[in-house]
Amino acid sequence: MFSSKLPAMASRSFTSSAANSAKVAVLGAAGGIGQPLSLLCKLSPYVTELSCYDVVGTPGVAADISHVPTASKTQGSLPDPDAGAWPTGSEGGLKAALTGADVVVIPAGVPRKPGMTRDDLFNTNASIVQTLVEGCAEHCPNAVLAIISNPVNSTVPIAAEVLKAKGVFDPKKVCGVTTLDVCRANTFMGEHMGKDPKDLDVTVIGGHAGITILPLLSQTGATMTDEEREALTVRIQFGGDEVVQAKAGAGSATLSMAYAGYVFTENVLKAMAGEKDIVMPAYVQSDLTDAEFFASPCRFGKDGVEEVLGFGELTEYEQGWFDKMIPELKAQIQKGKDFAAN
Ligand code: NAI
Repeated sequence: MFSSKLPAMASRSFTSSAANSAKVAVLGAAGGIGQPLSLLCKLSPYVTELSCYDVVGTPGVAADISHVPTASKTQGSLPDPDAGAWPTGSEGGLKAALTGADVVVIPAGVPRKPGMTRDDLFNTNASIVQTLVEGCAEHCPNAVLAIISNPVNSTVPIAAEVLKAKGVFDPKKVCGVTTLDVCRANTFMGEHMGKDPKDLDVTVIGGHAGITILPLLSQTGATMTDEEREALTVRIQFGGDEVVQAKAGAGSATLSMAYAGYVFTENVLKAMAGEKDIVMPAYVQSDLTDAEFFASPCRFGKDGVEEVLGFGELTEYEQGWFDKMIPELKAQIQKGKDFAAN
């Protein structure tokens, strides 16, 4: 049996100390996700250097965050090295943002509006991710990349292709962040089961869009009618739509995503610092299924993903969703690869 426990999910305090030094770069740091994610990273004892990069606003974001009294240094830069940076007079540009980074978190790009699927973001976000990952290949080829920009099912294959073309692809270090799907699954199942969500750890596999998100609710041991199982499964798959609709045109999940992105990042850093048994889901190159990239629990170590873990037996109900998911996931992966090839 595997565990996809997220050790920092709900019970962390911001006062513990961490052994190693680590630089985290957030690309898209002035955005709805980027700002609160940067703030949470500033609070993490595992981060000693925080680099905020965006096409707008990062000197201000970094100046603001730098006044939070934790031991880490904060830097903010814009694409043009001469356009100003924080601290004033420090070197700006993507190179300065990325050089020395151990983890690069990428929430850069446009979010959904009501009625849009994540795939509708492809045209804009594919080239943003491509450009930023080219920068990573050049300036921090050994960093773990945590890709949040949607459609994750396609942006992660794009990142892999970019890194392959530059000769620096390491499958252990390219991750799509699917942690928010687990957060939603734990929250909704906690409500259903009358349990504190921090005591739950629902395994969610597949990808990060609609029916490619497959929560394995049978493994929670919860009692559910067929209708309840269907409703909970669909709510987790389309949880992002609830937020998009409630925000009514002002974007998609930002605060819960910032939390999820921070949990993911801090767990990567904990594993890099030598902590054992860091197991969490990630969308990575995988040979568990026919899909070249697949989200499942992974064990993290000093160099990123140490082992892609299995996901146990599927029930007949879950197998039905799995069979529908794989062709869609494969098509979205291929779309990313085709984009990178042209
Ligand atoms: P936002 O529009 O508030 O922020 C995006 C930021 O990216 C902006 O500050 C923008 O200036 C910046 N940006 C654009 N092009 C850039 C470039 N070339 N280099 C650096 N920065 C650039 O959007 P939000 O709400 O923060 O969402 C960001 C992305 O995260 C979207 O693609 C969204 O779909 C995705 N997302 C992913 C989730 C997941 O579970 N993986 C959950 C929620 C959102």
